[in-house]
Amino acid sequence: MMETERLELAQLSYDDCEFVRDLVNEPSFIRYIGDRGVRSLDDAYEYLRKGPLDSYEKHGYGLYRVCHRCDTTPLGICGLVKRDEFPHPDLGFAFLERHWGRGYAYESSLATLDHARNKLALKHIIAVADGDNEASIKLLRKLGFQFEDMVRMSGESKEICRYALDLPE
Ligand SMILES: CC(C)(COP(=O)(O)OP(=O)(O)OC[C@H]1O[C@@H](n2cnc3c(N)ncnc32)[C@H](O)[C@@H]1OP(=O)(O)O)[C@@H](O)C(=O)NCCC(=O)NCCS
Repeated sequence: MMETERLELAQLSYDDCEFVRDLVNEPSFIRYIGDRGVRSLDDAYEYLRKGPLDSYEKHGYGLYRVCHRCDTTPLGICGLVKRDEFPHPDLGFAFLERHWGRGYAYESSLATLDHARNKLALKHIIAVADGDNEASIKLLRKLGFQFEDMVRMSGESKEICRYALDLPE
């Protein structure tokens, strides 16, 4: 678990099926991350099982649920994803649209990067974003990420931007 001034980041569990179903069906999530085909609570269970929960087991990190410290209502997710096609883990974040613009993504990303450096001893983090995803790119720049190159993810036709950040020892 990670704590910031306002927020708490904790591992997702099967109790989060409803929240996850709502989050991955937000229009912004579908537009910029993709349609994960999660429509029912059973679909959300499978998404959690094959995605974040499997990642905690395999890599010791994953995407975390972000809540207020004093409230268990989830606001969004933030954390690290290890994709087979990239050698380094990448920073991921998505928040329910009604919670945007309050700095939650920035604050939880800072905590994730601190955890990556100090607990996981990672030295290099990447991030990928659609070139049209202004909110995400602005946030990555604010966190210190630099544009690296354009990449095409497996199964996708469009190239997206890869950003990178070195974590000082
Ligand atoms: C990306 C996302 C998490 C940003 O959430 P957020 O709540 O706006 O983030 P924050 O409040 O922490 O804002 C961080 C910075 O991003 C910038 N920003 C936020 N929304 C923006 C927008 N629509 N256009 C341009 N910049 C924007 C702001 O500059 C802000 O910095 P500031 O506080 O100095 O103004 C949110 O838009 C989201 O969930 N999008 C859908 C999922 C997604 O695209 N994830 C990323 C995949 S690569």
